[in-house]
Amino acid sequence: MSERKVLAISASPSEISKTVRLVEAVLGDLRARDIDTEHVALRDLDPGALLAADVRAPSLAAFRDKVVAAHGLIIATPIYKASFSGLLKAGLDALPQFALAGKVVLPLATGGSLAHVLALDYALRPVFQSMGARHVVQSHFAGESDFPGGGEHIALGDPSWAGLRFACDNFVYSLTDDHRASMLGHPRPPNEVK
Ligand SMILES: Cc1cc2nc3c(=O)[nH]c(=O)nc-3n(C[C@H](O)[C@H](O)[C@H](O)COP(=O)(O)O)c2cc1C
Repeated sequence: MSERKVLAISASPSEISKTVRLVEAVLGDLRARDIDTEHVALRDLDPGALLAADVRAPSLAAFRDKVVAAHGLIIATPIYKASFSGLLKAGLDALPQFALAGKVVLPLATGGSLAHVLALDYALRPVFQSMGARHVVQSHFAGESDFPGGGEHIALGDPSWAGLRFACDNFVYSLTDDHRASMLGHPRPPNEVK
């Protein structure tokens, strides 16, 4: 097993979620490449603590520790009101300012309208950048038509998912075991640098 750890964060409030299916397909692909993966669904965290931004609550502290320990993050959201979900906002608000320092991030979204593809770049990307990410790779948006029959089985080898496969490849190429790479990216205040 590679030393590279990837944490996926999904941010759909729905019990049956296309966003989660997308994440699980990508994680399956990463595991086949010998990469250590974990998935945190924000809907499973303590909702009271999330809404109160109570960062000392055990579930939010554990979430923060997982983010800090990861080399790469897959951050996946449904598009709501032409932006990312409120659940993702609450999850990101529970993290320290430079929680993404030195990390690679793959943004993913599912949405109802192709008109909102750009939300990934104008709404999400700047937040990740300001949280210190070393590299936010090309994102991927999946619309309704990408999930015929509900998208029960997403196969990254299928030509219809070539865009997701490409985004996944970019993400993997940008991961590295070299701990010095974690010092690259957005400058951090001196007390954050270890
Ligand atoms: C409250 C709400 C707002 C939404 N707003 C948008 C939107 O502005 N643009 C869009 O493309 N899709 C929008 N959608 C559709 C969802 O993004 C889409 O169905 C998504 O795939 C749901 O993901 P999930 O199955 O993981 O919950 C909205 C859905 C809901 C429930």
